[in-house]
Amino acid sequence: MIPVTKPFLPPKVEYQEYLNGIWERNWLTNNGPLVNELELQLKEYLNLDHLLFVANGTVALQIAIKALDLSGEIITTPFSYVATTSSIVWEGCKPVYVDIDPKTLCIDASKIEVAITDQTSAILATHVYGIPCDVALIEEIATRHNLKVIYDAAHAFGVKVGGKSIFQYGDISTCSFHATKIFHTIEGGAVICKDPEILKKMAYSRNFGHDGPEKFQGVGINGKNSEFHAAMGLVNLRYLDEIIQKRKELTLFYLKLLSQLNVEFPTQPNSESYNYSYFPMVFQTEERLLESVKLLGEYEVGCRRYFYPSLNHLSYTGGHTPLSDNLSSRILCLPLYHTLSAEEQRMIARLLLRVQNHSKS
Ligand SMILES: Cc1ncc(COP(=O)(O)O)c(C=O)c1O
Repeated sequence: MIPVTKPFLPPKVEYQEYLNGIWERNWLTNNGPLVNELELQLKEYLNLDHLLFVANGTVALQIAIKALDLSGEIITTPFSYVATTSSIVWEGCKPVYVDIDPKTLCIDASKIEVAITDQTSAILATHVYGIPCDVALIEEIATRHNLKVIYDAAHAFGVKVGGKSIFQYGDISTCSFHATKIFHTIEGGAVICKDPEILKKMAYSRNFGHDGPEKFQGVGINGKNSEFHAAMGLVNLRYLDEIIQKRKELTLFYLKLLSQLNVEFPTQPNSESYNYSYFPMVFQTEERLLESVKLLGEYEVGCRRYFYPSLNHLSYTGGHTPLSDNLSSRILCLPLYHTLSAEEQRMIARLLLRVQNHSKS
């Protein structure tokens, strides 16, 4: 079986060293020393002012929406993971979809302005597959209309734009450190911001609103993460550059093997350093995609229609975004993980080319 993704697992002894410390201190959660150490190391690695380690990338979005006091309508993208939309609805706001830019697959910033109403409070955009949104235009529109900006940067760890981490854009960026992400803490995520006041609000939110044992600030949630998860992050961070380099090599090899395949590969027009977090490809038709998924499945190759369906088709949403509808019906992510072998990549490519050649005859 070749799965679509495999989590990175570091050498066990390195994790065990951290476990020994946890046992000695008997401090498992509630803002322990390893959580603090991970936050420090991440801020250093990414050159950020403020970052909080939280339970996952979904609660990160919920905390971000709460911290900015958003209400009414939030302009967002229909081409993202369900958590981007469900967090908006969970926080009592209404997602308003703006269609995507077929080049970047992110929200089409040039279409945002016509969707703004007197109910709009923010823009929540996703850097899809780590491909940056048009951050400059989004910032300009948000400033002109006095809107907040949140970036769902779940896929964008390590990506740089304008010489700095992509997490530095927007009022808040959120990330997921789920086991399938390039940097992971098994489960986990982060909220990142520049404003210390917003940081303070998010720190209260993450811990039930606690301001000391008997005083509370705002409506909180349990968004904390544990020493065990932080330890996994501390070890994995040592291997991150190696993991990204390996994924880059795998991506370039796929591109070579698949050069005769009649598909399009999304590019990264705005990024200076990319993280190779996924290997998406866009088929000419949904029919060809389904034929390919079927044959790959027969040979036990996992792949994923990511993202499908377009989020405007959820039971609790709506909206007319034909480009996202069309793209989500034709896009497929191939297996990509650091231990994927050249032989496995060759087999995947052979199967995909076989579908194409069979369909021609
Ligand atoms: C774009 C996007 N946003 C949010 C999330 C949610 O992150 P988590 O699984 O850590 O809650 C994901 C997870 O896959 C995602 O891909």
